[in-house]
Amino acid sequence: MEQNIPTSLVLHFLIILPILFTFTSQISAQFSFLNTQCSNTAYTPNSTFGSNLNQVLNSLSTDTQITYGFYNFSAGQQPNRVEATALCRGDVPLATCQDCVRQSVAGLPALCPNQKEAFGYSENCVLFYSDASIFGRVLIRPSWTLRNGMNVSDRSGLNRTLYGLLARLQNEAASGDSQRKFAAGNVDIGNNGTLYGLVQCNPDLTRLECAQCVQGIMINFQRYVDTPTFIAGGARTVAPSCNLRYEFFAFYGGASPSTQASLVFDNTSKILHVSFHFEISNDL
Ligand SMILES: *[C@@H]1O[C@H](CO)[C@@H](O)[C@H](O)[C@H]1NC(C)=O
Ligand SMILES: *[C@@H]1O[C@H](CO)[C@@H](O)[C@H](O)[C@H]1NC(C)=O
Ligand SMILES: *[C@@H]1O[C@H](CO)[C@@H](O)[C@H](O)[C@H]1NC(C)=O
Ligand SMILES: *[C@@H]1O[C@H](CO)[C@@H](O)[C@H](O)[C@H]1NC(C)=O
Ligand SMILES: *[C@@H]1O[C@H](CO)[C@@H](O)[C@H](O)[C@H]1NC(C)=O
Ligand SMILES: *[C@@H]1O[C@H](CO)[C@@H](O)[C@H](O)[C@H]1NC(C)=O
Repeated sequence: MEQNIPTSLVLHFLIILPILFTFTSQISAQFSFLNTQCSNTAYTPNSTFGSNLNQVLNSLSTDTQITYGFYNFSAGQQPNRVEATALCRGDVPLATCQDCVRQSVAGLPALCPNQKEAFGYSENCVLFYSDASIFGRVLIRPSWTLRNGMNVSDRSGLNRTLYGLLARLQNEAASGDSQRKFAAGNVDIGNNGTLYGLVQCNPDLTRLECAQCVQGIMINFQRYVDTPTFIAGGARTVAPSCNLRYEFFAFYGGASPSTQASLVFDNTSKILHVSFHFEISNDL
């Protein structure tokens, strides 16, 4: 059940935040995926594809050259070529990023055994590997949305603020360079607190592609986050090429308490994922 909480009650939420934070910081050393998705195409164990995949995963977990939080590695030639990308949240330190990539690489193949394609999202990074060509593509599927169960009562007020903030961050992220397309920022909404947002694209996308990706994943907003009867007091959507998030608390730059949130699996998209896999959604 969704709760109907006035925006001003966000204050109560902020009061309990330190408690949540204490709790989560104790467990933050533990790595866990928030979402994983696997394709339905299997490869043969001990095949060329399998050894290419191992090679790519090994490169990802041992790399020390890359310092900007985005990894794009490949091995082999078609039809056994493997491409992988890993993107760390733009504000995490390099050591945290490398640790996240290593843990994702260590965990994902076991969760998607012998699958040619897999997606794994955890708090600090997104890992995606595939038998298809994924570099420089706008990949909005699979995508995954996590929203907060808080129903904000001041719909039009939040809506204006939220879309304004996300548009600004989208522009800022898209204007980034080939190593970093990340923007985080906040907007003060007076008595209602502060709204924090984050937008990030894989930096191998062009400016236009980054904007297309963000617009593409925003479709999930209309579906789950900003519906005619509900507007969530916090949400994130993550896809292989870009992600975005907003909350009523500072979740980036060191603070990242996870809150009471309800999981929303975009399993409609997961089905579409098979046929529209490498294209920008037609419903843009
Ligand atoms: C894969 O190779 C290993 C060692 O070379 C072998 O022990 C294993 O049985 C092989 N598995 C398959 C499915 O062929
Ligand atoms: C969310 O809040 C709005 C406005 O207060 C209300 O009309 C709507 O019924 C609420 N939705 C849910 C699911 O509680
Ligand atoms: C919120 O803004 C979006 C984008 O501008 C719009 O599509 C939607 O109808 C708005 N919803 C409300 C309740 O104002
Ligand atoms: C903030 O809350 C007040 C009422 O408490 C409301 O009138 C105002 O529209 C809200 N503003 C935003 C941006 O949510
Ligand atoms: C890998 O990513 C870097 C950084 O964005 C980019 O400069 C490079 O062109 C990419 N390589 C491929 C093969 O896409
Ligand atoms: C999609 O989600 C709904 C509700 O969460 C669930 O009942 C349904 O089985 C899911 N479908 C697939 C194909 O996973």
